[in-house]
Amino acid sequence: MAASQAAVQTVAEQQRTQETALKSIVAAVKDQPGHLEGRVERLETWLGKRAESQDASLKQVEKKVEEHSSTLAALPGGIDTVIERRTSTLERQVASIVEGQHKQAKKIDKVFTSVKAQQPQVIPGVDKESGALQRVKIVLPDGVDIPINRSGTDDAFDVFRARKKDGTLSFLRVEVPYYHYYTADRQLHLQGDWNAPFGHIADDVIASGTTKLLHDRLYTLWQGVRNAAHSSAAILEVGAWKGGSTRFLAEACRHFGKSGTIYSCDTFTGPVQVTAGIDGTRTAAQFEDISEDVRVSLQPYANVDVIKGDIETTASRIRDTTLSMLHVDVNVYQATLFTLNTFAPRLEPGGTIVVDDYGSVTCPGVKQSVDEFAAAHPQFRLTHLLTGQAALIRIVQ
Ligand SMILES: C[S@@+](CC[C@H](N)C(=O)[O-])C[C@H]1O[C@@H](n2cnc3c(N)ncnc32)[C@H](O)[C@@H]1O
Repeated sequence: MAASQAAVQTVAEQQRTQETALKSIVAAVKDQPGHLEGRVERLETWLGKRAESQDASLKQVEKKVEEHSSTLAALPGGIDTVIERRTSTLERQVASIVEGQHKQAKKIDKVFTSVKAQQPQVIPGVDKESGALQRVKIVLPDGVDIPINRSGTDDAFDVFRARKKDGTLSFLRVEVPYYHYYTADRQLHLQGDWNAPFGHIADDVIASGTTKLLHDRLYTLWQGVRNAAHSSAAILEVGAWKGGSTRFLAEACRHFGKSGTIYSCDTFTGPVQVTAGIDGTRTAAQFEDISEDVRVSLQPYANVDVIKGDIETTASRIRDTTLSMLHVDVNVYQATLFTLNTFAPRLEPGGTIVVDDYGSVTCPGVKQSVDEFAAAHPQFRLTHLLTGQAALIRIVQ
């Protein structure tokens, strides 16, 4: 309080000093020759107005300090107490919101647990046209059907909620895996080389943002390279996007001492052909050409050959008659089937083809092409991995 008034006085004092200084300048200038006279007059007028407005604003400040001081004087403990009170009110409000959320979550869990105890049958409804998960039907043992609607996607799950009005069920949360696979994160500890070197290489590639694959799927590729390490035949990847999976393959080859070219093929502008009715809701969305960035990022690997273009037109550039491993990650039916039909016959016995997104409901065309290929080629053994990938291993020549 006293400090505020002292501050106002100091400002007033400074203004008076300034005014005196300006007046003495004006007085000094008045003695100068005639051509300065007009200027001096203007300066005097300006000085008068300035003094007036400064007085007025100073008075306003004083008034506000007075008003403020009476409010503050009425508060025991002053401004600090006001701030403390406001903070604790806010904290209480936040705590009660959090508590409410906890109660709500407990309520939901309770209902969910009781429904689960009745062992309901959960029937996912896949939209026939898009292949996407749209509806879910819960059938309780007493035969009650509860159709419920999708209300969002929660990480790898679709979340469905329902209200049943007859009172037996008020709220229900059902999680249906969005993808038909489980994603292993880094908390999962595999024995052996999980942390180093695999984990470190995978961490590094994932952190670079150049792959959509996570540790679980990369580990499948890691094992594919390990199993092919004895061979100097090339590795072919179709669907490299920003090059992260190619870089991972190159690092794995380096680690296992595997020689041979790694072909990294992509249009680098998105899929070429999306088949209506087979590729679900996918569209042939094109993205900006990223091939140069990919080339630059893969330059440190002398054995990597980046090939840009639709695989159906660039296939002739892969002249190797023998391949030791194939990674297909193109999301769509046509390019997957073409790649399998063209390059699988060149795979060495024991070699692995890894097809990404085989278990993904958003890529129904991938599953269809792999199934068609596997049915026509019994020399390849198909395994659906819970990572969402398919492994096709050549068991005979
Ligand atoms: C899911 S991304 C690949 C992801 C990548 N393997 C990773 O590590 O994240 C699918 C890629 O397939 C490519 N693609 C789709 N159809 C293709 C075709 N006919 N020829 C070449 N590339 C194609 C797309 O351009 C896209 O970059």
